Amino acid sequence: MDAQFWINAWNEGRTNFHQQNYHEKLLQFFPPLRPHKGQSVLVPLCGKSKDMLWLSTLGLKVKGVELHQTAVDAFFSENKLQPEEKSLHGNFKRSKFLDITVDCGDFFKLSETSVFDFVYDRASLVALPLSMRKNYVQIISQALKPGGKCLLIVYDYDQSKMDGPPFSIDEKEIQSLYAHDFSITLLDSQQPDREGIRFSALESFKQSVYLLEKKGPLV
Ligand SMILES: C[S@@+](CC[C@H](N)C(=O)[O-])C[C@H]1O[C@@H](n2cnc3c(N)ncnc32)[C@H](O)[C@@H]1O
Repeated sequence: MDAQFWINAWNEGRTNFHQQNYHEKLLQFFPPLRPHKGQSVLVPLCGKSKDMLWLSTLGLKVKGVELHQTAVDAFFSENKLQPEEKSLHGNFKRSKFLDITVDCGDFFKLSETSVFDFVYDRASLVALPLSMRKNYVQIISQALKPGGKCLLIVYDYDQSKMDGPPFSIDEKEIQSLYAHDFSITLLDSQQPDREGIRFSALESFKQSVYLLEKKGPLV
């Protein structure tokens, strides 16, 4: 989906992807990654995800990147946080409250290298059409430190039965996108309880959780 699709979605309030509660798979699968206070986590295409709050309660430095200022403003105001704001180069605008930073701008312009210990991707890779995913994964890979870990939550269903987003991404595609730079572990794959009326028409609809571990430099 191009930027305009998401700009329209936020302008028109089509944000059913947003969850009022912390994501249960984040709560289940992130603590075993043994995050330490002071480490950093990137939340690409973050919307106004409350999961950023939960990640910050672990003592992590959280950085979200989101295209639409409405989402950024809503994240801080709905959680009663008053961020400091400043403009950055590359057309990013930064909002920061304590250890939570959200940069408003195009994720595809991110140029950080080996900065983050973790990435948390829920509804982000699956928000993108096939043509954009390879580039997205390159940026994720570049941003993570060697040994860094990505918790990735995707959907897997028959794409001919429903249009994305969210798009269906099966294990084969995960392998083809990530195997070069990451070791890949499928942690969980189940039909989720509550994922909205659109999905209820699908015969088979799975939510899969992957752990991706960035390979170190070759020696
Ligand atoms: C399906 S939503 C998921 C939001 C969030 N991850 C969550 O779990 O609620 C996808 C988000 O990606 C944002 N987005 C889409 N393209 C983007 C881009 N190029 N750069 C930054 N954000 C983008 C959209 O505005 C939207 O908020």
